[in-house]
Amino acid sequence: MSRRRIIAGNWKMNKTPSEAVALCAELKDLVKNDAVDVVYCVPAIDIVPVVDAVKGTNVLVGAENFYIEDKGAFTGEISAPMLKDAGVTYIIIGHSERRDIFGENDILINAKVKKAFAAGLKPILCCGESLALRKAGTYADWIKRQITWDLDGVTADQVKDLVIAYEPIWAIGTGETATADQAQEVCKMIRDLIAELYDAPTAEAVRIQYGGSMNAGNAAELLSKPDIDGGLIGGASLKADFGKIVNA
Ligand code: 13P
Repeated sequence: MSRRRIIAGNWKMNKTPSEAVALCAELKDLVKNDAVDVVYCVPAIDIVPVVDAVKGTNVLVGAENFYIEDKGAFTGEISAPMLKDAGVTYIIIGHSERRDIFGENDILINAKVKKAFAAGLKPILCCGESLALRKAGTYADWIKRQITWDLDGVTADQVKDLVIAYEPIWAIGTGETATADQAQEVCKMIRDLIAELYDAPTAEAVRIQYGGSMNAGNAAELLSKPDIDGGLIGGASLKADFGKIVNA
């Protein structure tokens, strides 16, 4: 089975609404590629203008966060049904910045994955190890535990629609990319784990991205690996280089 490549930008906390619309215009012709799913995951306040700005193009819109309740007294939060209604397709869940800075644990992340599916959103579930775990050599166990927890109670059919992003924390925003072989090793391990937790067809279908200082210079090599189906890109998604990654 051949999996469709998915290149997603994670804009993080960057771009005001008017800057977001300008970036969409800058990237419009550069990200054209009908063979690839192209996604902009944008700050909540940019969702409505970005959905409007990419209308009629190949770009899909993603969100960076939400809360697990549908509505109610949760000041400051937005819900999965709100995102869906606004035109969002993908939702990033379990990013290391949310785990580390905002204290999100695997119980909440698991609830978010289930809620996202229930609302008709496709999760991009992030996992990855710290530099200390990489150096200690225990990163594989750590990542397996994250994914096993995060997918508890999630069905095989849902996992076939899931995107998993392997993002080693030591490679995020540092300019230090995992080598293509290091990234492939972990992405294959994740696919093998999905085969173990579910079955071979589910493992064949799930799409696995690499993220962490991916750029126009290193994307082609990373994406040439058999178990790397795409990228989740931070810094380089905010400039014209993103088009080169989409077309790498
Ligand atoms: P950078 O591409 O800036 O390293 O960020 C990666 C990331 O965290 C994407 O979610």
